Amino acid sequence: MANAKPDLTSIQRQLMQVKHPELKKDIVSLGMVAKVEPTDDGIQIFIKTPNNDRRLQIGLEAQTRQLVSKLEGAGKVKIKFEVDQNMKMEDGNRIVGVKKVIAVGSGKGGVGKSTVTANLASALLKAGKKVGILDADIYGPSLGKMFGVNGRVALKSEEDKIYPLDKHGLKLISFSFLVAEDQPVVWRGPMLGKAIEQFLYDVVWGELDYLLIDLPPGTGDVQLSLAQLIDLDGAVIVTTPQDVAVLDAGRAAAMFKQVKIPILGIVENMSGFACPKCGHVTDLFSKGGGGKLAAQIGVPELGSVPLTVEVMRSGESGTPAILAESKGPLNDSYANIVKNLESQIALWED
Ligand SMILES: Nc1ncnc2c1ncn2[C@@H]1O[C@H](COP(=O)(O)OP(=O)(O)O)[C@@H](O)[C@H]1O
Ligand SMILES: [Mg+2]
Repeated sequence: MANAKPDLTSIQRQLMQVKHPELKKDIVSLGMVAKVEPTDDGIQIFIKTPNNDRRLQIGLEAQTRQLVSKLEGAGKVKIKFEVDQNMKMEDGNRIVGVKKVIAVGSGKGGVGKSTVTANLASALLKAGKKVGILDADIYGPSLGKMFGVNGRVALKSEEDKIYPLDKHGLKLISFSFLVAEDQPVVWRGPMLGKAIEQFLYDVVWGELDYLLIDLPPGTGDVQLSLAQLIDLDGAVIVTTPQDVAVLDAGRAAAMFKQVKIPILGIVENMSGFACPKCGHVTDLFSKGGGGKLAAQIGVPELGSVPLTVEVMRSGESGTPAILAESKGPLNDSYANIVKNLESQIALWED
């Protein structure tokens, strides 16, 4: 007579040892085990994955088979995968499907943090990456305006999930999409944290290489909430060349350091003026503040972006300058920033 089949509890106990290679959590706590069923000659286990990543599936299959086969009477162990695209497997700190989450911060407002975020996202997109932007600047959201989305929009939603907007191939979410323009934003403290948590985890981002987060300027609640809610892969700090801005940017950098978020580098925005006629860049203000700051805190300067008429206009036109143009000093600037950013990220990878 064949041995009795192992009971569900002992199967589950084995499954709790099957670790997701990136999330370092087991597939039971991650909610990946869809079903366990007896078959004529063994056990069948259904595992849900957010996509058809064969490498992940093969790894999980091997672990599962090995661990479950150890049980007496297990018989033949069959593993089936089901793809559930809406699945969000957070281990508390990572958004599954999103490879790198990068915050863009600044010491003060008006330095072009949002503009840099939008154009950096565009430049990454042009480099063939899948990119999303989360506008977390609740006090001055400007993502909508930059992408021609005014005020509240009907976002596609399902149960408690919301879908980001898709503009020019970029995935976008802003607080401004959810609240009327004339509605004052008074979220504070815990509520703010909750709202951001929802934004991070209830948005169906799909597969992204990069999620850029446009932070509010300064060193307040939101930045700290974010640091607690998600493993940021790094931060980019935007400054203008002037001393005051650089000083404030230094404070923002110190904050990231304190919460152990790697600072990937500094972008100096409005660095010189690019002549609309000939493209020649002249130093309208001082220059080199970004570089000085970078040297001071020991991080690289990722690059600088000149003040241009195109950028100024594109702030209201609905298309970031980088997506509207294919050459010129602005494109070169961003291509350079992307290159440096990617090599910094590679350095921080373990
Ligand atoms: N490189 C640039 N050239 C021209 N205008 C710029 C540049 N960067 C930003 N701006 C403009 O400066 C203003 C402030 O930029 P914004 O990105 O909203 O700043 P922040 O998000 O830091 O408050 C916007 O009107 C924007 O269009
Ligand atoms: Mg802004």
